[in-house]
Amino acid sequence: MSTTVILGAQWGDEGKGKLVDVLAGNSDWVARFQGGNNAGHTVVIGNRTIKLHLLPSGITRKSCQLILGDGMVIDPWVLDQELKKWKDETEEEPDKDRLFISDRAHIILKFHRLVDGLDKKIGTTGRGIGPTYSDKINRIGLRFADLKHIINNSQWISEMCTLYNRVLNSLDIEEKITEIDLKNDLEWIHNRFGHAIKNTGVMLDNALKMKENVLLEGAQGCLLDIDQGTYPFVTSSVTSRANASHGVGIHPGHIDEVIGIVKAYTTRVGHGPFPCELKDDVGDYLTEKGHEFGTTTGRRRRCGWLDLVVLKHSHRVNGFTSLAITKLDVLGGLDTLKICVGYRANGAEYHNLPASITELENAEPIYIEMPGFPALNDEEWIKLARKANDENLGLSVLHPNAQSYLQQIENMLEIPLHSVGVGPDRDATIHLF
Ligand code: IMP
Ligand code: MG
Repeated sequence: MSTTVILGAQWGDEGKGKLVDVLAGNSDWVARFQGGNNAGHTVVIGNRTIKLHLLPSGITRKSCQLILGDGMVIDPWVLDQELKKWKDETEEEPDKDRLFISDRAHIILKFHRLVDGLDKKIGTTGRGIGPTYSDKINRIGLRFADLKHIINNSQWISEMCTLYNRVLNSLDIEEKITEIDLKNDLEWIHNRFGHAIKNTGVMLDNALKMKENVLLEGAQGCLLDIDQGTYPFVTSSVTSRANASHGVGIHPGHIDEVIGIVKAYTTRVGHGPFPCELKDDVGDYLTEKGHEFGTTTGRRRRCGWLDLVVLKHSHRVNGFTSLAITKLDVLGGLDTLKICVGYRANGAEYHNLPASITELENAEPIYIEMPGFPALNDEEWIKLARKANDENLGLSVLHPNAQSYLQQIENMLEIPLHSVGVGPDRDATIHLF
């Protein structure tokens, strides 16, 4: 029995989905605990790929039960679309027997999407995530547990419409929410998903009593955490370890392993400070070679060198028991590699991430430089990874400069490496545990 948490250690898009897919092979349950369809991962089935935003990555393993947990905000229409796509590809309908929606999760409605659509400041995904969490914190949100009680509560519907329309008016949004539309929406959600709404915290607790294996799948990353990230350029939920158990309704004592996912360099989408950002040829090289375009919005991701100040912060908050490095292959072919070990701003040196956005925006990275390693093609990387795994050779199959790069990370953070990703293929991972 074990409970493992998978978390993004940077600004999201570290490649969590690929590791969850591998680890789900030994898991009975995969649960998400925060966020919504602002997340995005690509699942490969045979020679087809599907982009998913809500369904946990463990969906590819038929033996896994799946939970959309208490701490999430869920757009029922997006969920319906994803389930339709999944059925088209596999003929399976997971919500009939192995996908469960927490009765405590909050519902994203059209109103929330309209409001989020106006954002220009943060560069949100525009999916209604922030406005839905705002309503949750304001204690006017709508949870799946409440659906069946409010469908026929005309007073609630009328009051919510008044409130929604007042907000839409004040934002100069022309669209309105009518009582009949809201009622119809609520009825549709209830009819479509009523059977899958459960007390999922109790289900997980029972599973743990039965000694089953649970994987808690984070979305976004530590630097997008509402409390611990680069506020206000963050998402609206707690993306960190402390919320992994809380967000699915079990206690923190259950957690055994916390794997931090670290891209071998750094990326971010949306606005906000990014001290190691490269606005030069190397940045373009990483974007192109790493296919750094968002799964959810298709936006070009900003790219830069690996930042250990960010990772130290992330480790302090999350207490990683191991690190999974992803996309090492993308660095192949660069003459020199740099790792940021501190910042200089306004005459001071920083080795801990400052909270102030102004300080972060002025931060000049302090780099150490290391010699690069040659580029290989996808097939060559897969061959190396297979050799490492089959013959138990670990990192010794890699070019010495690639080994030094990884050892530098491991030594400076004092966290053992769990695995190293060297390509998009399921087999292109060197396993070290
Ligand atoms: P929101 O989560 O849509 O409110 O967006 C807030 C910020 O988080 C924006 O900068 C988004 O680009 C970023 N963001 C949200 N989800 C993800 C993700 O899954 N990967 C990377 N960035 C994300
Ligand atoms: Mg993503």
